[in-house]
Amino acid sequence: MPTYGGDDVNALVIDIGSTWTRAGFAGEDLPKAYFPSHAGYIESEIEVAETSDEPKEPTATNGDTGSDKDVEMADEAQTDKQPVMRKKKTRKYYVGDTESAAWRAGMEVSGPLKQGLVEDWDMYERIWEYAVKTRLHVKSEEHPVMVSEAAWNTSAHRAKLVEMAFERFSCPAFYVCKTPVLAAFGTGKHTGLVLDVGGDMASACAVSEGFCLTKTICKQELGGELVSQQILEKLKQENSYELTPLFDIKSKAPVDILQKPAILRYGRQGTTESYLQDMRLRAVQEFKESTCEILERPYDEGVAAGRPLKPFEFPDGFNMSTGSLRYSVPEILFNPEKFMVSRPKSLEGVPLVGVHDLVINSATASDVDLRPQLLSNMVLAGGSTLFPGFVDRMTVMLQNGIPGGRIKLHAPSTNTERKVTAWLGGSILASLGTFHQLWISRAEYEEHGAAIVDKKC
Ligand SMILES: Nc1ncnc2c1ncn2[C@@H]1O[C@H](COP(=O)(O)OP(=O)(O)OP(=O)(O)O)[C@@H](O)[C@H]1O
Ligand SMILES: [Mg+2]
Repeated sequence: MPTYGGDDVNALVIDIGSTWTRAGFAGEDLPKAYFPSHAGYIESEIEVAETSDEPKEPTATNGDTGSDKDVEMADEAQTDKQPVMRKKKTRKYYVGDTESAAWRAGMEVSGPLKQGLVEDWDMYERIWEYAVKTRLHVKSEEHPVMVSEAAWNTSAHRAKLVEMAFERFSCPAFYVCKTPVLAAFGTGKHTGLVLDVGGDMASACAVSEGFCLTKTICKQELGGELVSQQILEKLKQENSYELTPLFDIKSKAPVDILQKPAILRYGRQGTTESYLQDMRLRAVQEFKESTCEILERPYDEGVAAGRPLKPFEFPDGFNMSTGSLRYSVPEILFNPEKFMVSRPKSLEGVPLVGVHDLVINSATASDVDLRPQLLSNMVLAGGSTLFPGFVDRMTVMLQNGIPGGRIKLHAPSTNTERKVTAWLGGSILASLGTFHQLWISRAEYEEHGAAIVDKKC
């Protein structure tokens, strides 16, 4: 436990994924906060006075003045020029399970990451702030903070993270650690091959003695959210059914199996497409997590069709007994080209492989001497490895793909642990006595600037 100002304080560990955020205290078994990374926001325009010819970018607030983005006002005293009124966009954010799900006219919903990297920095900052202030009830300036990053994060992004930690949140110390390293630590390993199948991304990467081997990173934008989207698409194609989320249901009556829902809608004006889609994805998640499975052997339609049907009722009353669909849709994880119902625009022309091939390609890119150790220390992390049958299927595919290799898969046994493996690794790492000298201290940041992050982390 690091000591700051003579007191022992717990470090904070924050893992902001594309779909879920985990935040809590180092040394604990589970994160205290676990909430969706997708946040709501309402954009509006404000007028600001500017005197320079170049318009200034708005800067973020110090967080204590509500959710609006503040705008730097031109200092009229410094110049003779007449201030020019310009329009700037400002956003009010709604972060957390309840806030981001509550219906509001004009509220858009999105996430801060794109392909595993921070794209919307303003939103990322709001999520960090919400986790620390609202959910953990602590002050940023009193706790060292460790955050996770994708294995393929860039130097520029890391520099922005370290600046955010010290400039915006006034952290006493900071560390950023790659997700595969954290996931390996979370299962008690310093060396291993980590497959992480999360919300937006699936990636495989070798970790050796606590370091990611960059040349072994194999990744693609195919995770659990695409599985959910494909379920919605399949229900539309096969049953002409479009899910109505709870926010738009005023009343409903029971209907027979596969019949159109009998609902009265609110018909709320101002509902955005992104909010509607997010609510649909949340609603279909329950269907996915309670009925979908992966076949233990390579896909066989006869086997899938012979499995027991599972009944399910959606929030709008539409109900069905699901047969092979509950196997064929998640099969896109292992056989994307064949089982994709409708390819999203972002994946047009992008070659996709099964998650087992990500692992095989990653192992093949590693040094021959290290390979046996990697194969016997494979780590499965991420919520989308939780489909029943996933571990057995992965074992079969790897045994077929790497004949003669001694393959051993390690995955936390409980569902909860598998969803937080990387966070748990951070919790273990940040609470080690020996980790003390690894933190970037404020003094080091002030002396060396943001570039220190590439030297220390
Ligand atoms: N029991 C389950 N069965 C199947 N899928 C599940 C289960 N539990 C969670 N998931 C899916 O796992 C995904 C979230 O996984 P995870 O929390 O590891 O992702 P993330 O860290 O937010 O995303 P990424 O790592 O891609 O940035 C979601 O798509 C969710 O629906
Ligand atoms: Mg993740």
